Amino acid sequence: MGTKRETALAALKTLSTFLEPFLPIVNTHMVHFYTDQVFEKLNQDLQSDLMALTDTQIAELPNDYLNISKSKPSHIASNLLQLMEDIDGHNLDSLNVLDDLPSVWKEMDIKPLTSLIHFDKFMTVKKSHEVGALCDTIASFANYTDSKLIVDLGCGKGALASMLSLNHGLYVSGIDAAGFSAHAEEGRQSMLQKTFKSHVKKARLTEDEEAVDLSVRFRRSTLYLSNNFDIRPLIEECSQHFQQSFNQVGLVGLHTCGNLASTSVQLFVNSPESRFLCNVGCCYHLLDEFFDKSNSGLEQGFPLSSHLKSKSFFLGRNARMVSSQPLERYATRKQMQPDVLFYRSLLQVILEEKFPSTDSVEFQVGRLRKPVNNFRDYLQWATKKLKLSLELTDEEIEAYLTRYNGDKRRHLYAFFQLRLLLASLVEYVILLDRLVYLTEQEVVSNSFLVRIFSPVTSPRCYALLAFKKLKEKSI
Ligand SMILES: C[S@@+](CC[C@H](N)C(=O)[O-])C[C@H]1O[C@@H](n2cnc3c(N)ncnc32)[C@H](O)[C@@H]1O
Repeated sequence: MGTKRETALAALKTLSTFLEPFLPIVNTHMVHFYTDQVFEKLNQDLQSDLMALTDTQIAELPNDYLNISKSKPSHIASNLLQLMEDIDGHNLDSLNVLDDLPSVWKEMDIKPLTSLIHFDKFMTVKKSHEVGALCDTIASFANYTDSKLIVDLGCGKGALASMLSLNHGLYVSGIDAAGFSAHAEEGRQSMLQKTFKSHVKKARLTEDEEAVDLSVRFRRSTLYLSNNFDIRPLIEECSQHFQQSFNQVGLVGLHTCGNLASTSVQLFVNSPESRFLCNVGCCYHLLDEFFDKSNSGLEQGFPLSSHLKSKSFFLGRNARMVSSQPLERYATRKQMQPDVLFYRSLLQVILEEKFPSTDSVEFQVGRLRKPVNNFRDYLQWATKKLKLSLELTDEEIEAYLTRYNGDKRRHLYAFFQLRLLLASLVEYVILLDRLVYLTEQEVVSNSFLVRIFSPVTSPRCYALLAFKKLKEKSI
């Protein structure tokens, strides 16, 4: 067995090499599925294997894929089955790069802490699941590294920050680019405090609940974070605000979208005051890619590792977008994608046939707010949105439907499912690239990639955890 760095790097090499030839498929846009004849770009054997599936089997493909290491579905023909097994062979579990929290505690010799109270009054089920899991992990790391101040990057409304402070007595400095109302913030914090206190009382967690410190020690700043951000002035401000001196801090972030996750990882590495990192990213479509030829002078969001940089590795926006689709949720639902997916692709055929001189990129329909009953209603809605006069008779609409219903419609749904399986690997490349970058850093002693949430409840479920070497000097 190699070192963690060797294992992570080998996994990144294997995964990126496997994924690269499939990127054109993952980067296809379903809007252009018919106009670009996307299905025909798959090899013939794969096309036949997909078409041999019934509608139900197509709907169940994500579920069959997630269980493929346990049971090989007999209804899936050899080429498709082989591809599914190959994809499965390149997920984070198969690549042996995932840790779980118990192994982190053991390897780091950390005593895990638990929260006094987990409550969901102000949060959705999803948020309370996320905050609950992160809160205890961060508190345990803070205790281990003796970091009393937590810097929450992209703190949003501060749900995580408040829980860290109420449950674990930590000081939290929240930063978010979005402005906030100090008045609303005050109201929210006082409500949180009251509810927390009543929970403590009800649960009779302590004989003397007055002894529990129930103040929210959360300070929020409106700032835009970039890779060269200096956290020192912020720590200084917090020291003055909380009348405490903070020598070392933990950098955390829950669903740091796009570049903010890469920024968090780089800030952790470049700030001597930061002792640990706990970061969960999301919204990969918002990442800036360094090797994106259509964009120059962007923040460096991806890649970070020397290996992918040396390969000028490029994913593509649509691949990053599709990688955020919730595979585990689709697997649980076992349903065909909604009709609107088919309707949009068919609309594109009509638009390109009826308006051949117009640039197809201009046809941005946007999201359907209410469900429609049939294609005719969809057309009506879309043409109104596009401000186009598209006078189609009922017979013409029927003729389009006859052309594309049946096999062609099944092509689209089957392709969508196959692309979904491949796209999961895009997220893994992004995460592994960040992990490898951390392992490359002299100042970082340990780094881990952990599935910290349930993927069904919270699809962006992977946390990057890292620690600095103890010998490094603090401020
Ligand atoms: C998906 S939200 C998550 C909010 C919060 N952490 C939570 O879990 O509820 C991401 C947040 O990051 C903030 N954000 C994104 N990029 C940022 C940047 N470069 N600097 C500061 N804040 C940023 C956004 O304004 C947004 O509030």
